[in-house]
Amino acid sequence: MKYWGALVKWLSLAKREIKTHYHRSAHTPCALLSFLCSQQNDNKMKTQHIELPEKSLVLLIGASSAGKSTFAAKHFSPSAVISSDQCRVMVAGNEQVLTANEATFAVLHLIVEKRLERGLFTVVDATNLDESSRKTLVDLAYQYYLKPQAIVLHTDLELLYERNAKRDDRNLTARSLQRQHRRVRQTARHLRKEGFQHIYHLQNSQTEVVLQAMPSNYKHESGPLDIIGDVHGCFDELVALLEKMGYQVSADASPDNYGFAVQHPNQRKAVFVGDLVDRGPASNKVLRLVMSMVAKGQALCIPGNHDDKLRRHLQGNKVKIAHGLAETIEQLQTEPEAFREAVKAFLRKLPYHLELDQGRLLIAHAGLRESMHGRVGGAVRSFCLYGQTSGETDDQGLPVRYPWAQDYQGQAMIVYGHTPTESPQWFNRTICLDTGCVFGGKLTALRYPERELVEVDAQATYAVSARPMIQGSPAQQDVLQAADVLGRQTIETRLYPRILIQEGQAAQALETMTRFAADPRQLIYLPQTMSPVKTSSLPDFLEHPAEAFKYYRERGITEVVCQEKHMGSRAVIVVGQDATAIQERFGIAKGIGWILTRTGRPFFQDKMLEQALLERMQQALSRSGFWEHHATNWVLLDAELMPWSAKASKLLEQQYAATAAAGELALKEVEQVLAQTLERGIAIENLSEQIGQRQEHLTSFRQAYRQYCWTVERIEDIRIAPFHLLATEGAVHTDKDHRWHLEELASFCTGAAPCLMMTDHRWVDLEDEDSVAAATAWWLTLTEAGGEGMVVKPWEFICRIEGQMLQPALKVRGREYLRIIYGPDYTLPENMARLRKRRVGRKRSLAEREFALGIEAMERLVRREALTKVHQCVFGILALESEAVDSAL
Ligand code: CTP
Ligand code: MG
Repeated sequence: MKYWGALVKWLSLAKREIKTHYHRSAHTPCALLSFLCSQQNDNKMKTQHIELPEKSLVLLIGASSAGKSTFAAKHFSPSAVISSDQCRVMVAGNEQVLTANEATFAVLHLIVEKRLERGLFTVVDATNLDESSRKTLVDLAYQYYLKPQAIVLHTDLELLYERNAKRDDRNLTARSLQRQHRRVRQTARHLRKEGFQHIYHLQNSQTEVVLQAMPSNYKHESGPLDIIGDVHGCFDELVALLEKMGYQVSADASPDNYGFAVQHPNQRKAVFVGDLVDRGPASNKVLRLVMSMVAKGQALCIPGNHDDKLRRHLQGNKVKIAHGLAETIEQLQTEPEAFREAVKAFLRKLPYHLELDQGRLLIAHAGLRESMHGRVGGAVRSFCLYGQTSGETDDQGLPVRYPWAQDYQGQAMIVYGHTPTESPQWFNRTICLDTGCVFGGKLTALRYPERELVEVDAQATYAVSARPMIQGSPAQQDVLQAADVLGRQTIETRLYPRILIQEGQAAQALETMTRFAADPRQLIYLPQTMSPVKTSSLPDFLEHPAEAFKYYRERGITEVVCQEKHMGSRAVIVVGQDATAIQERFGIAKGIGWILTRTGRPFFQDKMLEQALLERMQQALSRSGFWEHHATNWVLLDAELMPWSAKASKLLEQQYAATAAAGELALKEVEQVLAQTLERGIAIENLSEQIGQRQEHLTSFRQAYRQYCWTVERIEDIRIAPFHLLATEGAVHTDKDHRWHLEELASFCTGAAPCLMMTDHRWVDLEDEDSVAAATAWWLTLTEAGGEGMVVKPWEFICRIEGQMLQPALKVRGREYLRIIYGPDYTLPENMARLRKRRVGRKRSLAEREFALGIEAMERLVRREALTKVHQCVFGILALESEAVDSAL
């Protein structure tokens, strides 16, 4: 009887094991028999091997006292084990409070979720006999693209009684233990259906637990690597590209080499981003070459959607023979059967994505969003092969691809293929290497860590693409995502190492940008704010050139340029040689350029007027031979535009009319007081004099601000005075001094183009008293005639002394002009005394940081970095501008 019982128990256990393992591999009846025998042997040896994915969720399932906590303590690191007992203590004070179940499990599930989100190996130590709680945990694992694992402890009931009796911390009734013991057996039957990947059943045997690396984990491979884009059967181009990178490819007849032997002098490793096959002329030879490199450890490879389809075809699955698969099948027909088998085995073993260099580099055929890195499952596989599709189809009936890289914020660099683009471009640390070789484009490789691109041209057009090739990064179709710029961030620039943007500043800038800004593709640069000179010590002046000269002289600068500050408004102008140039370089289909204000808004509401102006500039540039001289077909200019546009002048009227109205009111009050005083017959000293003085001030003020307001009806009324030639294709010109800038600008701002005018300027030798005096006299003449003033700049565009950045410009505004800013009566001694206390420190610090950001934006643009990288800087300038500084400065 005793033996009979043992046999029944063994059979039931074996049945369960068969059920568990049967799904995992192809079992023939013979294999089944050997499996049963091995189980018997295992039981004899009493060592059970448990293999768990290094990123997974493990549920220990067993009755109380089954030994779950003991097992967990023995096999897992304490930090990986989340026990319901601990959670119960945390929420209810001790382990015995059984009424705190809901809170206990809410906490447990939350902790598990947070860990799984990070991909941490997690073990849940609880009886796990409640189906709904198990479901929550299983769902969480799948939500984070991980597989749940189960370890069931089938401890004998007698042993449970025995252990329970010995425990001080727990005292379950026999009935409870019986019930739990029964439920363990019932539960075990459903685990497969519930979604557990591996289910291990433990009797009182020895166990050995091994954590298995995820299939994508190649973190130990740190390179150097040569990552190669979609080959699509272009064998000759592949060999040419490998040879260009220093690999030597030769024919080799030895059977395990698939026909090729490859060598590389520097032991570099190639990585293929998938889509080795289809459409091209020699997919079979590409497979031979890649397979030989992979077999020798000279290359790593992941499958693309085309390779995956070929695999399914070779495995006998029904697949639609389209998109170049027919050619591949035909080419493989010329190969021996053994090679086709080898291809099948090769493709089956490939991981769907690769995590390399300690996780710093990730490679997936169609890219991979961060939450899926290092994870597994159907959704991850599908993303790796096809990318993210929006569910819609385009007018060609092709699925619309969602530009996932747009949202990518991860640290790992992602290199992918799949979407043919004209030339690879970095976008949010991602780069697509598919340059459409099979469509007559190029085959491209990225060298890692060097980040160098190597390419060879296609030798023919082997297929015609149904989709047009994308220009720029596939993700760059849209720009500036709120997620990229919101929150506190630091921007690294060449001139100023770390520029901090506060959360509040970013939010305000985003608000401004989304509500008012121009087409984001036009936001490639914004000028910095400009600080005035320090307050003058001369009695009649708040601002005076002497302070500007002193500032630069004290910092070792001997030569400066004084440029007239026009009575206009700052304009950032891009002019193209023609509309095609603008379309090709900036992706903007309409017009030959644009004009923006210094806060990134369109300067003109009237697009016709804007384009007419730009056309005149374009003609002037063409006449001067500018495009040829600078080898460019576009230019970015910093300029002053006069007068302010109708809109701007309205703004001015609204803003400054208030100051004027206040002035008029004050005058009326004084007059009233005077009248009352006279009525009472009391003479007040100086009163009439005061009134006279104020009247004079008000007149000056009116004159000052009226110079800014005249309505523009005709294009002939507009003047543009450029003062910086900022950038052209391939070059940011901030490395040239101001003389170069003014000379280059003079070459096209000739009298022949009435809309363009030069900025009047004076060169000043700060060591020469006469030179200084002449510039000061010039300023006085300008400002006494109502001019706004001048801007003083050091000779070099960028000036740094002992690592400190100097102000790139200081403004010196005229005495009369300042009435617009400080009110008509600012020159009254009591007002002057108050105004002299103004501080310029913050404004100067802002100017430095904004200047660095503006230059960085242009440098990134010229290096053809992703537009979001450019926008990060432009956005930074807007964000800094929201900082509260004295607006009168
Ligand atoms: N124990 C044992 N031999 C084992 C496993 C456990 O003697 N192989 C003992 C432990 O020392 C402990 C008791 O059995 O005193 C219960 O084991 P434990 O691992 O705490 O059981 P759990 O399944 O975790 O029980 P609970 O659900 O009550 O936490
Ligand atoms: Mg326990």
